[in-house]
Amino acid sequence: MTEIKKIRRAAGEITVPGDKSISHRAVMLGAIADGTTKITGFLKGADCLSTIDCFRAMGIDIEVTDDVITVHGKGLYGLKKPEKMLYTGNSGTTTRLLCGLLSGQEFDTDITGDASICRRPMKRVTQPLSLMGADIENEYCPLHIKGRKLSGITYDMTVASAQVKTALILAALYADGETIINEIEKSRDHTELMLGAMGADIEVNGLTIRIGKTDRLTAQDIAVPGDISSAAFFLVLGAVMPDSDIVIRNVGMNPTRTGIIDVLLDMGADLEIFNERVATGEPVADIRVRSSKLHGVKIGGAIIPRLIDELPVIATAALFAEGETVITDAQELKVKETDRIKAVTDEFAKCGADITPTDDGMVIVGKKPLKGADFKTYGDHRMAMSLTILAQLADGKSTLDDAECVSVSYPEFFEDFYGLDN
Ligand code: S3P
Repeated sequence: MTEIKKIRRAAGEITVPGDKSISHRAVMLGAIADGTTKITGFLKGADCLSTIDCFRAMGIDIEVTDDVITVHGKGLYGLKKPEKMLYTGNSGTTTRLLCGLLSGQEFDTDITGDASICRRPMKRVTQPLSLMGADIENEYCPLHIKGRKLSGITYDMTVASAQVKTALILAALYADGETIINEIEKSRDHTELMLGAMGADIEVNGLTIRIGKTDRLTAQDIAVPGDISSAAFFLVLGAVMPDSDIVIRNVGMNPTRTGIIDVLLDMGADLEIFNERVATGEPVADIRVRSSKLHGVKIGGAIIPRLIDELPVIATAALFAEGETVITDAQELKVKETDRIKAVTDEFAKCGADITPTDDGMVIVGKKPLKGADFKTYGDHRMAMSLTILAQLADGKSTLDDAECVSVSYPEFFEDFYGLDN
């Protein structure tokens, strides 16, 4: 159990670690490209390190130094059969993307992960992949993937999920003919951008993606921007804490990820976005946030995939906003690292919050007096960081049962957080 220390105000400058989604993809696509990929800004969180381990186990030489990750790509057909079961730790992205990538290989693979991964549904990837000819045993980890010849399909997605979409795109690189994927809502498009830059046969038109069988990917150096999903904790902290003024440098601003900015602005947050630029095809900016008077909002529909990982911390912001915040269309929260509808509503209620779970989200009435509590993270990194912010403005002492789980996406979170106590 770790006590959450309180800071007096949050002021100063931080640079959040690299984007988790882009870091995974940089290693995966670098491994199957021809040539060497140098990745700067890579997130050395547990999830992305799991991806590195899996590719090393498939014969890819990956050098890790303080500043640069170097992936010696072996081409689309250069992976070798791993000697033992691949272990993906807590990482849903590693697990699901590997299902797509490994379905069309000439060897079989077994994959498993930690207790949370073994509870997360894999049918959402194995079922559409089976339409391409993939043969994957089990709907939960451990999975047994039999390498098969794949054929292109036209597939209308049933969930708004970048993991499912990317699994299909990766399989499509190996499939005979064309694959057409129609999304229901636009989800993060880092794979499409990176593959386009590497010379894959891929075309995006609104919600439709066309991928052709690809002979060769050309390695590209990749500068990973800071993760907006990690910046989110400081955006909310700066907005809710009195007398705050935080500048967050080098934040990835891909429009498929910036739903949190739209929501915070809508709630009345004092945000300034500046130094806008582009780094290896991804928009990047610096953001300044100052203490703000927030009010409740309605969040639902097409914005949900653009802020799905930020909903626990958006719910935290709603606790300090005047009036009601209603989150709908977010049933995907139930299949994240933990059931985040239940985890958020149970833990927030412990300190006196007015929060009600619904089938597809939650309703929060803000500005209720909050008292400290002994919080459970359910091993979920985003719960741990959201609760740390909540605890700052709750009366009395709070603890976390598992503060270490922040290492999944933000190993230096507490150093950065307490460093703002100026
Ligand atoms: C991710 C996609 C999202 C997100 C996850 C990372 C990715 O999951 O929640 O943290 O890198 O593709 P879904 O695609 O299941 O929504």
